[in-house]
Amino acid sequence: MKKIAIFDTTLRDGEQAAGCRLGVVEKLKLAHQLAELGVDVIEAGFPCSSPEDFNAVQTIARNIKGPTICALSRAVMADIDACGQSLQEASQARIHTGIGVSDIHISGKFRDDKYGKTLEEKKATTIQMAVAAVKRAKEYTDDVEFYTEDAGRADPFFLFEIIEAIIDAGVTVVNVPDTTGYAVPSRYGKLINDIQKKVPNISKAIISVHCHDDLGLAVANSLAGVENGARQVEGTINGIGERAGNAALEEIIMALRTRYDFYQIDTQIQTKEFYRTSRMVAEAMGMSIPPNKAIIGANAFSHSSGIHVDGFLKERQTYEIMQPADVGFPQSKVILTARTGRHGVFHRIAELGMDLSAKDSDKIYQRFLNVADKKNEIFDEDLVAIMNDEIRNQPESCVLYSFQAHCETGKSPQVTVQLKFEKNRVEKSAKGDGPVDAAYKAISKIIGFSPKLLRYEIQAVTQGTNALGKVMVHIEHDQVKVIGKGASTDIIEASIKAYIDGINKLKGMGI
Ligand code: KIV
Ligand code: ZN
Repeated sequence: MKKIAIFDTTLRDGEQAAGCRLGVVEKLKLAHQLAELGVDVIEAGFPCSSPEDFNAVQTIARNIKGPTICALSRAVMADIDACGQSLQEASQARIHTGIGVSDIHISGKFRDDKYGKTLEEKKATTIQMAVAAVKRAKEYTDDVEFYTEDAGRADPFFLFEIIEAIIDAGVTVVNVPDTTGYAVPSRYGKLINDIQKKVPNISKAIISVHCHDDLGLAVANSLAGVENGARQVEGTINGIGERAGNAALEEIIMALRTRYDFYQIDTQIQTKEFYRTSRMVAEAMGMSIPPNKAIIGANAFSHSSGIHVDGFLKERQTYEIMQPADVGFPQSKVILTARTGRHGVFHRIAELGMDLSAKDSDKIYQRFLNVADKKNEIFDEDLVAIMNDEIRNQPESCVLYSFQAHCETGKSPQVTVQLKFEKNRVEKSAKGDGPVDAAYKAISKIIGFSPKLLRYEIQAVTQGTNALGKVMVHIEHDQVKVIGKGASTDIIEASIKAYIDGINKLKGMGI
């Protein structure tokens, strides 16, 4: 059985994502979780970059047992010494050193004549620096990985030459990074294949792939590398990292696992830990996960359209290639919207324990569509109300037409709400402590009574600043308590919808 090693660089390359910074405590917490996930190597940081990162690597090396703990350096003696010192207490330590190998990197970074006057001279100096770095790293640990930075754009013949030299110097893992995300899968796969054919001493080291996502190809390139003989894959959780990020480890590993028939390659990853790890990383980095993100996005196991819901409910595998439980996801979900279709709606009604007699079903479904056209998502509470309303054939007494909110620093917000209320179009304005308070006061003026707000809860259903906000209100009037719910990307609108939803329920109960 073929196995590949998983090298996680969330704490080093992932942390290089714009706006992200992790302290020692956060790094240690994530390192514990990465160990639970079962990664083979944790790249804990770049010790020379700051005393705090040195401390973080040292703390992880001291406390995390199981994975190899790795630290990054340039091909600079002081960097390598910082790695060696920070890793002293690791049970298994690796130093990851390296240098730029593409012509662009060599001529761009080594402009000074001290590196040589011509590109050829500068390349020779690059090899000398690489070999010297490996030898220095070997003084601290046997396990030395070398990154041939920007290998994706390098002259392949120079790449083969430098790889041969560093393996002779004692490198055990050769990293072939596509630093700028320039590679395409077939070319990158061929490069990995050619390294095995053209570097005479390659059997003394394993090849590692490290791909960036500038063209959205990081995962595809990594898999092409694995297909062509790489035996270590580097990446980050949620694909975070410099610019467009690194290859997302959860995607690579689930591709290998789901398409085992094709790759026939194993890892030792506990995939059930993906969901938890992903949420922890998102929270620590302050980088939310897009809902449609493969494997761990909120919608990754949600079904909504009629055809899909119908098929999924009959046989899960019609629209799911993985089980949510395999990645630690709570469960597959059917999101009820206007596109869900009868089967999905009736299935949920039955799950809620409600009896849907055949003669009601067309009306119920019509009523569902009317409500669903006005709302983004239909909740269980709505279904209960739909069922009750339909049985009583009760029209909604309150419908939101529009609202305007005016908020200004230092002034009380003012909100104007226009409702259809008992067949009339009515508009009222009110000021309040906040825009939601003002809106609820305006609505109370329209309906002629003020339900007591017992509880107000807001929750982001999806991620990001355009997240769908779900508001739930518990309101009471004349000792009758109801729950109202509303969803919108605008939280004031979601709040108004929730309040109106509650009011309609009160009205439906004869208030
Ligand atoms: O992308 C890259 O080349 C890197 C190296 C430092 C390994 O992150
Ligand atoms: Zn990188």
